[in-house]
Amino acid sequence: MIIQVIGEIPDLLFTQKMDSIRPELFDFHGVSMSHYFTNNWENVQNFQARPDDIVIATYPKAGTTWVSYILDLLYFGQTAPERQTSIPIYERVPFLETARVASKKGKDLADKLPTSPRLIKTHFPIQFVPKSFWEQNCRIIYVARNAKDNVVSYYHFDRMNQAQPEPGDWNSFFHRFMEGKMVFGSWYDHVNGWWKKKQTYSNLHYMFFEDLLEDTGREIDKLCSFLGLSPSVEEKEIVAGKVQFDNIKKNSMVNYSTLSVMDYNISPFMRKGKVGDWRNHFTVAQNEEFDEDYKKKMKDHTLQFRTEI
Ligand code: A3P
Repeated sequence: MIIQVIGEIPDLLFTQKMDSIRPELFDFHGVSMSHYFTNNWENVQNFQARPDDIVIATYPKAGTTWVSYILDLLYFGQTAPERQTSIPIYERVPFLETARVASKKGKDLADKLPTSPRLIKTHFPIQFVPKSFWEQNCRIIYVARNAKDNVVSYYHFDRMNQAQPEPGDWNSFFHRFMEGKMVFGSWYDHVNGWWKKKQTYSNLHYMFFEDLLEDTGREIDKLCSFLGLSPSVEEKEIVAGKVQFDNIKKNSMVNYSTLSVMDYNISPFMRKGKVGDWRNHFTVAQNEEFDEDYKKKMKDHTLQFRTEI
């Protein structure tokens, strides 16, 4: 008994030490990253995709969980309703590159997913996506959110999530965002890189947070058409109802309240769920600076975002 306990202590201490410290950002192949998403790099890069895998790709805070939940309901809401009440969304839709010591590695969870199709989440910029997904011609859904609301949401997320780098104050976070010094790098490079890929890779559905909020039913229809699904009108209405902000916010299997690294006393994961909350954070001067910088970085005018709906 004593031997067992002694044997467990160093592991426990190691785990807590590795995971209780906010990580540093570092440059990883030209992208700012934290070690929680690079620790398992080789294994992640060698991930073996299957042709029916479906990837949900986003820059952090663009509506990943929302779309993951929609897909999970569309595929498994009818056939396996118990999933919805017993398995948290981050295990139903594993986060491929996550590799914190105390949690299950996303790649291992994805490997072991019993479902068909497998739904897999990633925040990787386009150049980091494991090649097997391209070789297998997997369907990919990319969700993008306007930069202003995205940076605000990311700020509050980094405040409450102890597994993210120290956010600092709003003004310094705001400037780091413009410099691309965020986990998963530059928002500008991310949304543009995926947009460019869409021009040559037909199995990519590029969608916007703002459109999803404006008309969830319409966006679910577009998703179904991309995925070749034909649920009944009634089923689609049920899905649209379940994924509404107020319902997601109180659903413990979707709102991340089961993860101890997230401190809901600082800010909830499902925080505001709005378009235009940036107005409550940006000063007039910050807004002007942001717009000026944005024009320089966003040269491809075929990619347009709405900061109001
Ligand atoms: P806010 O912080 O602006 O509220 P992700 O899942 O990529 O981390 O994104 C989280 C953001 O999506 C949060 O934004 C969250 O509130 C928002 N979100 C999630 N579900 C939503 C819904 N049904 N309606 C509106 N926003 C939603």
